[in-house]
Amino acid sequence: MISGPPAAGKGTQCEKIVKKFGLIHISAGDLLRAEVNAGTESGKLAAEYMNKGQLVPNQVVVDMVKHRLAQPDVQEQGWLLDGYPRSADQAAAILEEGIHPDVFLLIQVPDDSLIERVVGRRMDPQTGQIYHLTFKPPPRDTLDRLIQRSDDTEEKARARLEVHAGNVASVLDYYQDCLVEIDGSQDIKAVGSAIEDVLDTFQQSNSLEEFQHELAANT
Ligand code: AP5
Repeated sequence: MISGPPAAGKGTQCEKIVKKFGLIHISAGDLLRAEVNAGTESGKLAAEYMNKGQLVPNQVVVDMVKHRLAQPDVQEQGWLLDGYPRSADQAAAILEEGIHPDVFLLIQVPDDSLIERVVGRRMDPQTGQIYHLTFKPPPRDTLDRLIQRSDDTEEKARARLEVHAGNVASVLDYYQDCLVEIDGSQDIKAVGSAIEDVLDTFQQSNSLEEFQHELAANT
């Protein structure tokens, strides 16, 4: 699982992780945006909350994520869950199904940097690539088609930050055994290396105890 405040770099790092480890990336935000774009009833309800930077009600999110986790590609390849759970209730709902991660990555970034990342973010609708006007400049030939998410304004980002700050501790309670904090204030490559080191260490460990011991020895 990967977690962190809005624009911490979760999506950016997920792209690298799934390439290296062959996992399926499940982003709660992407699943919700797909519902919104498809104009479904769930999507219409979700849009009301997303536009205000608030959490979408569990009646929409929980079954949507559980359903994706149960699909054959995910069962075969393994999963990287991004942006879920965002509350204790959401964590409890998947624990009931026996779903617990091997590693829970929490990307930490100071608020001011997050706002800068939010307002400069652009997405290529053709490729799904995430760019930043300063930190990860898009290729020139994509500039005309880039889009900005409707919740990527400073005001909405501050609301999303508040929601994250209000919920994160109760989510972390569920994952103390496998929690690893990552310094997300570094550049994209350095954050990627830090995550890769953690996941390599996990793969080379024979048990959760050995993994925790290795992590403690390396910090
Ligand atoms: P969601 O789509 O999950 O948004 P989020 O958590 O706010 O995260 P973001 O997608 O904004 O950022 P990110 O961390 O992926 O950063 P990125 O890699 O793009 O959720 C949206 C909404 O959906 C929520 O507000 C809520 O309404 C709803 N929702 C979602 N999940 C829900 C749930 N479980 N329950 C209820 N509601 C839910 O990077 C950001 C920018 O920074 C990019 O431009 C990137 O190029 C740049 N960047 C990345 N890393 C670095 C770096 N190290 N240095 C400099 N720039 C960087």
